[in-house]
Amino acid sequence: MWNKTLLDSIDIAGPAPDAEPQRQYYYMKKCREWAIAEQDRLGRKLTYLAETLGCQMNAKDSEKMTAILEYIGYVPGGEHEKKDGKSIDADFVLYNTCTVRENANQKIYGHLGFLKNQKEKHPSMKIALCGCMMQEDDEIEKVKKSYPFVDLVFGTYNIYKLAELLYVQISSGKRIVDVWDEPGDIVEDLPGKLKYNFKTGVNIMYGCNNFCSYCIVPYVRGRERSRLPEDIINEIKGLVDDGVTEIMLLGQNVNSYGKKFGTEAGSSADTSSVTGSDTTTFAKLLYKVNEIEGLKRIRFMTSHPKDLSDDLIKAMAECDKVCDHLHLPLQSGSSSILRKMNRSYDKESYLLLVDKIKKALPDIALTTDIIVGFPGETEEDFLETLDVVDKVGYDSAYTFIYSKRTGTPAARFPDEVPDDVIKDRFDRLLDLIHRKSEEIFSSRVGKTYEALIEETNDHDPSMVTARLSNNALVHLKGDASLIGSYIPVTLTESKGFYYIGEVKKP
Ligand code: 5AD
Ligand code: SF4
Repeated sequence: MWNKTLLDSIDIAGPAPDAEPQRQYYYMKKCREWAIAEQDRLGRKLTYLAETLGCQMNAKDSEKMTAILEYIGYVPGGEHEKKDGKSIDADFVLYNTCTVRENANQKIYGHLGFLKNQKEKHPSMKIALCGCMMQEDDEIEKVKKSYPFVDLVFGTYNIYKLAELLYVQISSGKRIVDVWDEPGDIVEDLPGKLKYNFKTGVNIMYGCNNFCSYCIVPYVRGRERSRLPEDIINEIKGLVDDGVTEIMLLGQNVNSYGKKFGTEAGSSADTSSVTGSDTTTFAKLLYKVNEIEGLKRIRFMTSHPKDLSDDLIKAMAECDKVCDHLHLPLQSGSSSILRKMNRSYDKESYLLLVDKIKKALPDIALTTDIIVGFPGETEEDFLETLDVVDKVGYDSAYTFIYSKRTGTPAARFPDEVPDDVIKDRFDRLLDLIHRKSEEIFSSRVGKTYEALIEETNDHDPSMVTARLSNNALVHLKGDASLIGSYIPVTLTESKGFYYIGEVKKP
């Protein structure tokens, strides 16, 4: 959310202010001036194309960056499906990258190969790469050496500087590479565009301190730092005023919210009294968010099982707006693999936690992440994972084949699991997950739930797609006028991992 009064007051005749967000507002206005001239020259609007890989954090970062681009004057577009394939002529192409698994990196290089050719046909195109993959030295070097047509390279810590970086690029005509090793201040009051205007994500913290042995995130997104509760609440209130009714509180490990506050640049709050304070917890934040009038649903992502406190379970039970869904990454069901993964819980404690959650929240839908083929994973270890999946009964699970990430401890672990063994385990895991989720989904057929209508169905325009509090999707008859409304829907049929439903009969 931006501070419109402050934005209006910025004078771009003089030098750029040092303070944030004023500095970014200044560059946004400078770029806008340039964009107007550029549009006159070309006789058309400037277009942008933004591609986002990876998690919800990246999706949120992209929302912020596209809002900046739209303020500058870019409109979405510049991609064309043709008989002989796709063509791109966007004036600004943004790739927000992910590096959690190797195949995400390969995808980006594939895209860049294609873009080189497109840019030759449309020399006004600017190409920007940002996000997690750009925090890795090897990848920056590779882009610098082999992809000279990329105009802007930045990382995860300075996405809010997009307008400033673009302005420097425009003014100099040179490629700009600006990747920070450390996070800077948390900058408040920057614009945020919403993909859906009734729901959005809200960052509550950045970074991760867990150092799971396979994971690159702590190296590319830095140490944990939380936003002040006042800033979060103000942002949500502003969003609700703009029509948002569902928010997802975002952080790599939301359960450790409040342990360390970031330095807030542009924050209205006095940070001195709370920096380093341990008196604010995620549970307390949930109660505060739950009080916001006009807000209907609260979700959050992601919870680490080791930090999921009794207070949080109580808060989830007591806050009526908190949805009946918890994403609780398991990663492996084997205590010995979990130790090697540095997850700080074992099979038994995970199952006890799940029992506790189910007792306190009987309607909760659980989802999870599981990695197959971690170094040293034996058939016995894998059977433990199947056992947990069987006992917990997840609504759905994201399953990943272990991907070796250079620089993480696990990259040096012995006993890599052969590909054919991984494939066999992966298939067996998927099979069990599907069987269990089908059972769970069928058990709800005939019941009525409040559903938020999210979009019209891609394949059948007479249908809309809605989401239940437990995160399940349901397709029902309806049209675009229903989008954004909450309607009681009776589930008439389970399709395994989604439902067919109808508006509840009076
Ligand atoms: N290999 C495979 N999966 C991984 N994840 C994180 N790092 C790796 C890796 N190196 C998965 C975890 C995490 C999810 C976001 O991505 O399951 O929860
Ligand atoms: Fe990666 Fe573990 Fe942090 Fe999640 S909790 S981002 S898996 S290090």
